[in-house]
Amino acid sequence: MKALVLSGGSGTRLRPFSYSMPKQLMPIANRPVLEHVLENIRALGVSEVAVVVGDGGPQIRAALGDGARLGLRITYIRQEQPLGLAHCVKLARDYLGDDDFVMYLGDNMLPQGVTDIAEDFRTLRPCAQVVVHKVADPRAFGVAEVAADGRVTRLVEKPEQPRSDLALTGVYFFTPAIHEAIDSITPSARGELEITDAIQWLVSSGATVAAREYTGYWKDTGRVEDVLDCNRELLDGVSRSVGGHVDAESLLIGPVVVEPGAGIVRSRIVGPAIVGAGSLVIDSQVGPYTSIGRDCRIKDSGLDRSIVLDGASVSRVPALRGSLIGRSAAVTSADAGGAHHRLVVGDHTRVEVAA
Ligand code: G1P
Repeated sequence: MKALVLSGGSGTRLRPFSYSMPKQLMPIANRPVLEHVLENIRALGVSEVAVVVGDGGPQIRAALGDGARLGLRITYIRQEQPLGLAHCVKLARDYLGDDDFVMYLGDNMLPQGVTDIAEDFRTLRPCAQVVVHKVADPRAFGVAEVAADGRVTRLVEKPEQPRSDLALTGVYFFTPAIHEAIDSITPSARGELEITDAIQWLVSSGATVAAREYTGYWKDTGRVEDVLDCNRELLDGVSRSVGGHVDAESLLIGPVVVEPGAGIVRSRIVGPAIVGAGSLVIDSQVGPYTSIGRDCRIKDSGLDRSIVLDGASVSRVPALRGSLIGRSAAVTSADAGGAHHRLVVGDHTRVEVAA
């Protein structure tokens, strides 16, 4: 079995971050979403992976390289325009040959993994197998109607009135039968070749399409709230590890990771939390549920339930919560005595200040 990881798309819901980085590189517990994805694929015993990339291709290549570090052989395929998930499969047609493959959306986090589900596919080998997850409001997703025996009877992409609460996660298992289905469909109203339509084509033509339910934590990390939520979920799994320097006046409480080369000075870190390599936390309170990337500087500040990306600094800001701070961004309070807020804010940025 091969793997096809889809990492194109414009990431409009993750602006302003997606202006400068592909959303699949957003760090969750200090590792890009894509690394978590590839780790799950490796756990299926799959090592041949094609990653479909759009404009963010060079950054993704720089982060993953040839995949050797992750025990994988990665091939990159360029998608010039975001013409749909099924279009990506078309682009990968030669690479995939007549092999079965797992298709995995590069922004989907399923931390409990899909090894059991992959086993079912290998054993029973339906034409296609989708991974579904129960959600309260499935209207933002593909929705599957599933019979008692696990066969899919109908699939609809983002229905206004869903007839089931089973959303399609971004993980699919395919036999080569999917290629004929993709060649048979036309673009949807949003102008994309939908994988959901291709799978529905298989169902309509009488092919066996199975659904397996993933009951663990699932997140499509498309929006800032999702990224923060997912970060909290993953941080819940960390255990204490202190590789950096913590001075005698600092206190670490609970599961705190201080990566090698990080420094904690006169500060209190409440786990779960991670302080990345080369970062310095001085006279501050950090956590719980906070990840600080590499080479950041947190001084005279307090932040919780937040993510700080590489190279950013926070200085003299006492109460940041639920914040996502971009690479090399600087957040600081106004000069002493000033009663005004001063903001230099990029396009599509959201800022919330205390009234
Ligand atoms: C895509 C699929 C959708 C699926 C979702 C999971 O939606 O089209 O069926 O439920 O991924 O993340 P998109 O994120 O492209 O809108």
